[in-house]
Amino acid sequence: MERSDVKCFAVMGLGKMGVDWVANLLEGGYEVVGFDTDAGARERAPGALAKGLGWIGKKRHPDEPNFADEAAAGFRVVDSEEDFAAELGSCQVLLEVILEDLDLKCEVLARVAPRLPDDGLVWTNTSSLSVHTMGVASGRLEKFVGTHGMNPVYQMPAVEVVRHRDLSSETLALTVEILEGMGKSPFVATDVSGFWVNKHLVPFMLEAMRALERGEITVEDGDVGLKGSLGHPQGVFKLSDFIGADTMYRVSMAMYLQTQDPRLYPPAILARLFKNGEHGVKTGKGFYEWDGFKAVKGRDFSENVITSSDFLLEV
Ligand SMILES: NC(=O)c1ccc[n+]([C@@H]2O[C@H](COP(=O)([O-])OP(=O)(O)OC[C@H]3O[C@@H](n4cnc5c(N)ncnc54)[C@H](O)[C@@H]3O)[C@@H](O)[C@H]2O)c1
Repeated sequence: MERSDVKCFAVMGLGKMGVDWVANLLEGGYEVVGFDTDAGARERAPGALAKGLGWIGKKRHPDEPNFADEAAAGFRVVDSEEDFAAELGSCQVLLEVILEDLDLKCEVLARVAPRLPDDGLVWTNTSSLSVHTMGVASGRLEKFVGTHGMNPVYQMPAVEVVRHRDLSSETLALTVEILEGMGKSPFVATDVSGFWVNKHLVPFMLEAMRALERGEITVEDGDVGLKGSLGHPQGVFKLSDFIGADTMYRVSMAMYLQTQDPRLYPPAILARLFKNGEHGVKTGKGFYEWDGFKAVKGRDFSENVITSSDFLLEV
């Protein structure tokens, strides 16, 4: 298959990353059909997409006043996995963006990936799971590749293209070509735990959370310090709220299980945010309190400072 043969992407999972990918794909001129098992996510998708396309239009297509509406016309949502699978026959790429759970991803891929045309590709946006294992489950290992987009996908240029040992050189080259054609900056990493970016980022972020649990720093001072000293765009606590405590927890636990590295074991403070539904921007509360995408204030975690040997039994 050549790049010019690729006309349609099927996007499975319309959460934060899925919808942002859809915006970027529509900007690239592709048709997109999307599906999510959650009816709420399917209903929210057009509104979230309009926001993303609005941003892209303003920043990258200022001379096209109808950019967002015209681009949005290329997107359709279907209501069942069966309808989605039926659409795959006329798509060239399936992009998997469902939640970070290896068993779930493998199960769903085994059901739907065989419905693609023989030369169809599968991309996965996983941030930490074994791309090879998912490729085996999909039944098309040589055509299965990691395309780890950064959050928010349409603003961040890099895409980590994850090469596993059985990936064909044709799939790798075509994937890089498609991404470059969309204006992205792909780079190739290997299928090791955390690939390249999260191998560095996750232990760093978890250590910042442990410093909070030791009472060494506050949320706002922590972020101001990293922004002003190391040039980080937002600081770790804000970044974690953008990623979501649920995703942060799942990614770090997956990496811990792969490596047994204690630095990757999710700290209690992160587990508690996940369990309490305080997932960050998407729920309005995490390390910060949020008003939409605006951080109102950093929360006080002094009660979460570990002060006694029985601390974990008391929460
Ligand atoms: N959030 C980030 O910053 C970030 C960054 C890079 C990569 N990722 C990765 O992207 C993926 C999605 O993360 P997210 O943050 O968008 O999560 P999310 O929770 O916002 O969205 C996941 C969506 O998948 C849907 N889903 C679950 N099972 C499904 C199924 N069987 N079929 C269709 N839809 C299904 C859920 O209903 C949900 O809407 C994960 O693999 C995550 O690790 C996330």
